[in-house]
Amino acid sequence: MRTSESGPSDQRRDAERNYAQDLAEVARRLPGEDYRQVLGWIHEHGRPRNYLEIGVNFGKSFALARPDTRAVGVDPEPKLTCPVGGRIVEMTSDAFFARPDLLDVIEAPVQFAFIDGLHTFDQVLRDFLNVERLSSPSTVVALHDVYPIHSEVATRERQRIFWTGDVWKAAAILSRERPDLSLTFVPAPPSGLLLVTGLNPAGGPLRGNLDAIIGAWMGRRLPVDPDSLVAGFTRIANDEASVRDYVSRIWNAPASA
Ligand SMILES: C[S@@+](CC[C@H](N)C(=O)[O-])C[C@H]1O[C@@H](n2cnc3c(N)ncnc32)[C@H](O)[C@@H]1O
Repeated sequence: MRTSESGPSDQRRDAERNYAQDLAEVARRLPGEDYRQVLGWIHEHGRPRNYLEIGVNFGKSFALARPDTRAVGVDPEPKLTCPVGGRIVEMTSDAFFARPDLLDVIEAPVQFAFIDGLHTFDQVLRDFLNVERLSSPSTVVALHDVYPIHSEVATRERQRIFWTGDVWKAAAILSRERPDLSLTFVPAPPSGLLLVTGLNPAGGPLRGNLDAIIGAWMGRRLPVDPDSLVAGFTRIANDEASVRDYVSRIWNAPASA
């Protein structure tokens, strides 16, 4: 354990050692292709008409949208390092959804959305409910970071290089409070993807009760075994055929050989 006399190089060494350990644990728990590959399969086989991404950062997941998809990315501080099509809107998701001209910027219903912005469960729930206003029953919303490998990566304030925040609570709340939704877990590293369908643009019970539910969940601790977080979800394998079959089923896209 480091003392108060630990210097910046000690702290960096500790952080890098923790990061290496976290990646080893991710590889043990969630082997296979990472979440961006899964998103890429959804774009490739589902060919969504439009795509909304909350949290763009370098543009690596946003760049997976196909040229014929109307793509909109929202991020207050995008740092694009790769060429992307579509439109990037530089603002927080809350500000974006409050825009009076929202429907001029994003086509509704949204067919495919990826929520990967601020990693707190209350923000993810707000993002989800805002996307739901623009949804149809066949909308697919992908939530990132629902499977943290242990509690130190799942803090509300970032403490480690590898960080999921407490987004796992948003998945748990949707599961408990919205039995009308269909939740499908893909065990893609580094922190899982949850695919949500069956959205209701008129909203469900969660919308009217959000503040009380957030308050009740704020202090909850991560269960010791992260597998228990996703045990109740339908699960599909993290491979191309399974993801292709999923999008084909949801969007009636022809399943290619
Ligand atoms: C994990 S990164 C996104 C990574 C990207 N989706 C990918 O997979 O390549 C999270 C991003 O969310 C953005 N962000 C933070 N707060 C946000 C908010 N309130 N609304 C939208 N984006 C936010 C950050 O600026 C950061 O770029």
